Amino acid sequence: MTKTVVVTGASSGIGLATALELASAGFDVIGTARTEEKARSLRDKAERIGAGVRTVLLDVTDATSTVCAFTHVAELTDGGPWAVVNNAGMAQPGAVEDVDDEQVRRQLETNLVAPARIARLVLPRMRQRRSGRIINISSVSGRVPLPFLGWYCASKQGLAAMSDALRMEVAPFGIRVSLIEPGSYGTQIWERGLELLPERQQSAYQDQYDSAHEMLRGVKDMPSPRPVAKTVLRALRARRPQPRYLVGNDARGHVLFEALAPTAATDWAKSVATGLRTPPPHVARMLERLRGR
Ligand SMILES: NC(=O)c1ccc[n+]([C@@H]2O[C@H](COP(=O)([O-])OP(=O)(O)OC[C@H]3O[C@@H](n4cnc5c(N)ncnc54)[C@H](OP(=O)(O)O)[C@@H]3O)[C@@H](O)[C@H]2O)c1
Repeated sequence: MTKTVVVTGASSGIGLATALELASAGFDVIGTARTEEKARSLRDKAERIGAGVRTVLLDVTDATSTVCAFTHVAELTDGGPWAVVNNAGMAQPGAVEDVDDEQVRRQLETNLVAPARIARLVLPRMRQRRSGRIINISSVSGRVPLPFLGWYCASKQGLAAMSDALRMEVAPFGIRVSLIEPGSYGTQIWERGLELLPERQQSAYQDQYDSAHEMLRGVKDMPSPRPVAKTVLRALRARRPQPRYLVGNDARGHVLFEALAPTAATDWAKSVATGLRTPPPHVARMLERLRGR
């Protein structure tokens, strides 16, 4: 029987690439989107590559919307999906002190509370079947915290911890939980993040926000998110999926540096990279050469 996989946030970026990759590989994909217009666009894109994707409307920060969406999914399937890919997410940038309570709550609600709420809704049926998969899209930021992305990193570190606990809890029922940890890919998350930057004029970190604006203009050169989608496919096809999949050489490099270098060294490198510290002139010249200026 064809296995049903729900992909949340399938209207763009990694979620869209994943929905199309899984549908092309023969999975029965239900992609979620926040509006009917985005849902229709997803169905059209799937049709253009000769694959079918069904859609359900879902705002993951809204508990009622989530219950309605997964009740609908249960009606469309045999009581619930075989797998869920918790992909819907956003990145709230800004210095820790510049992000207000409401923005913090939205960040944690979207990236951490929502995947747990969805797990609660799908686990009972998976347990009955003694089979099921939950794949949570985290980030290398879940392992390597960065200045000016503190709340995003906190949400992904929380997601990693929650996924680790869940993986052990549900394993005896035949349910597998994996975390995907991508590096940087060219999606809308960066432009959307720019729009969420705190008011620059009122911040003690105005200079760093100005550099962030400049840096994020270069994101068009980032690679397509297809490798992340292929990794999700690999995890779903594996008989024994790995607990974690790091995706991209940048992600592997950052994790290795974080694990091997002393904290003073990683703090220095991250502070230079984000404009909090100025490197000595010879290091600055070397960095300029590396950036190809
Ligand atoms: N791009 C990267 O380099 C990167 C790296 C590591 C991890 N990630 C993770 O990958 C996931 C996808 O991000 P992306 O890079 O593909 O960004 P994206 O292009 O901005 O896509 C985000 C998706 O999540 C959906 N979404 C956001 N808030 C939602 C909500 N409250 N309810 C339902 N859907 C919501 C968006 O829907 P709308 O279109 O309606 O806004 C969109 O479909 C995120 O969890 C992100 O943290 C991305």
